[in-house]
Amino acid sequence: MAEAPASERTGPRSAGPPAAAPAPLRLAEVSAAAQARVGTGLGEFDRVLGGGLVPGSLVLVGGEPGVGKSTLLLQALLDMEARAVSTLLISGEESAAQVKLRSVRLGGDNSGLRLLTETQTDLVAASLEQLKPAVCVVDSVQTLWSPEVGSAPGSVAQIRDATAQLLRVAKDNGIALVLVGHVTKEGELAGPRVLEHMVDAVLSFEGERAQPFRILRAVKNRFGSTNEVGVFQMGEQGLEEVSDPASVFLEEGDLRSGSAVVPVLEGSRCLLAEVQALVAAGNLAVPQLVARGVDRNRLAMIVAVLNRRARLPLSKCDIFVNVAGGLVLEDPAADLAVALAIASAWQDGADGHGVAAFGEVSLTGKVRYVLHGEKRIQELARRGFPQILVPGRNAEEFARVGGTPPGLRLEAVADIAQAVRQVTTRSSGG
Ligand code: TYD
Ligand code: MG
Repeated sequence: MAEAPASERTGPRSAGPPAAAPAPLRLAEVSAAAQARVGTGLGEFDRVLGGGLVPGSLVLVGGEPGVGKSTLLLQALLDMEARAVSTLLISGEESAAQVKLRSVRLGGDNSGLRLLTETQTDLVAASLEQLKPAVCVVDSVQTLWSPEVGSAPGSVAQIRDATAQLLRVAKDNGIALVLVGHVTKEGELAGPRVLEHMVDAVLSFEGERAQPFRILRAVKNRFGSTNEVGVFQMGEQGLEEVSDPASVFLEEGDLRSGSAVVPVLEGSRCLLAEVQALVAAGNLAVPQLVARGVDRNRLAMIVAVLNRRARLPLSKCDIFVNVAGGLVLEDPAADLAVALAIASAWQDGADGHGVAAFGEVSLTGKVRYVLHGEKRIQELARRGFPQILVPGRNAEEFARVGGTPPGLRLEAVADIAQAVRQVTTRSSGG
């Protein structure tokens, strides 16, 4: 997304031409001493921020209601306050008593954390100006409103106005400001989207409410790398960090037929995801294609490729695909695993077993090379998978760089028909 002009970021320009032309700086005169960052007390949170909160920066944390945004930020505030970082929580959504109850649960109810239940933007700005905390959390930006803006709280105009006002105060006073923003189920950010260009970082907090695992993802970050992820587990006493998350999204026990494991890259991390498929004889005129955790259009393409290039008669079947643990796969390397889970489900060997595989599938049926093959293979090997189906070039590359670990068999596959034969003959032949 394009950067906004400076005028929009720092507020409206004053009317009329400036009295004297401002003097520019020479780049050599600019000091860029690394600013001391404020750690949040949660290593996974800091990792996504790029090493903690930067004073004077604006971070937007978006996510669906109930995912755990308030919990995450209250935990961070309590930890910072305990380390004598001055903090302030502006709660427009929850009453002081509700925040207190949550902090009891998190074991931090005796904290000196300052709390303000205020939703009027200029009053919030005034207290920021007066208290000058090092870190302030506004939960949520959608509750802020100003009588001068003639629309309802939560409207785009109100959210923009509030952000612009608070941005100025935060920059002027070196306050690290964290705004919470709700996202609707459809992924439409009823607010956050319109703020993306105004803030320094946009983090998205994701996960299925019924599942314990949560992923914090950097969508934009002026002070760190994007696409770095942090993984948490929601427990009885708040969020716990998961520092070795590679296999937490896998289901317990053996890999059954109809499933395939794929190592997907999330930032610098490799996570193992389990794709599960069910193929049933369709009873409807139009067969169903149900996808959870994979893009439906991508899935439709993979089914068509299986149909045409691997000759699997799927056109009249209902197909259901699910990714275990609430993960959402965007890595194209997951194509092969999705295809093989379906092929294996179609064959329906109840005594069969799943496979580990990665590779991008093209419309021609070719299984294409993907980046970071070595990392993916190492992660599967670490977890003890004896056999992995990989694109030919990835297998060659891996043989060149390190040699295959003992007990691991890499099966190079050139196209989808060959990969499907591997899976379907293996489970029937043993
Ligand atoms: P919340 O932080 O309120 O979500 P958001 O601010 O994103 O709307 O928390 C959501 C859920 O987390 C809520 O259903 C209760 C649950 N929860 C726990 O499981 N354990 C805990 O320790 C806490 C505080 C909440
Ligand atoms: Mg909340």
